[in-house]
Amino acid sequence: MIQITTPQELRQYRKSIHYETIGFVPTMGALHEGHISLIKQSVRENDKTIVSIFVNPTQFLPGEDLDAYPRKTEADLKICQLAGVDCVFMPTTKAIYTKEEPALKAPKTTGYILEGYHRPGHFDGVLQIVLKLLNLTRPTRAYFGKKDAQQLFLIQNMVQTLYLTTEIVPCEIVREHDGLALSSRNVYLSDEERKHALLLSRSLKRAAKHIIEGERDATKIKTEMMEILSPTKVEYVEIVDRNFHLLHEVEINNSIILVAAYVGSTRLIDNMWI
Ligand code: PAJ
Repeated sequence: MIQITTPQELRQYRKSIHYETIGFVPTMGALHEGHISLIKQSVRENDKTIVSIFVNPTQFLPGEDLDAYPRKTEADLKICQLAGVDCVFMPTTKAIYTKEEPALKAPKTTGYILEGYHRPGHFDGVLQIVLKLLNLTRPTRAYFGKKDAQQLFLIQNMVQTLYLTTEIVPCEIVREHDGLALSSRNVYLSDEERKHALLLSRSLKRAAKHIIEGERDATKIKTEMMEILSPTKVEYVEIVDRNFHLLHEVEINNSIILVAAYVGSTRLIDNMWI
């Protein structure tokens, strides 16, 4: 496994690969089983796998946890090596950003509702870094988790509208045995807070149960979820279709139920694809 830190080196590495397929997994490090499942899928499906580890400052808003964000480089490298990764790209901010950058804006509606409403500009930063990374790696396939459903949608939309050639592969959400979706931010949770964090997946499971029983009314489903989530500080509970249009009626095979809530000072998100 090679480790590189500059875009120039990555270009060079990319140039040395001619006919083999390349899988790419962008991450912010502090790798957990969620990331590992993406990496393993890429290793299975491609001749070469590139993983990037970069805590991208442009997707954090002022006051968010950029400085506190967990960093575990050595453990991350070991994980990548064991998983069969060929190349890890770990740039510094200075290496990847200049003072004068063309602005990339997330779409006006889908980039500024839900996550984009509560974290305005977050997706501008995500798309900016993902576009740079896709241009540097020019992968056959890139792997993204459904855990960040809106991010996945906006990246698929960017690839389509900017005519990029990479295939975006959506990957299932990996959960703890009790349902908690894995997240690098779970390390912030105390034992007591972890119990409340479980309410996110519990509320989604309850919603799914009612939908299986025949309920389609989005308001009713959301109201019941809000009750379950009451010990947390909910930012939003919403039901959208796969193009991130808000729904009043659940559509089977075309809906995503989304939740974002604070547990203590930790902001958590989760969702379920219906
Ligand atoms: P990060 O939060 O490190 O996540 C990297 C990838 O892992 C994302 O595609 C995310 O959806 C996926 N992931 C995280 N937790 C998961 C889980 N429990 N199950 C399945 N997949 C999971 O998302 C980012 O980084 C950044 O925004 C990035 C795309 C790297 C751009 O900076």
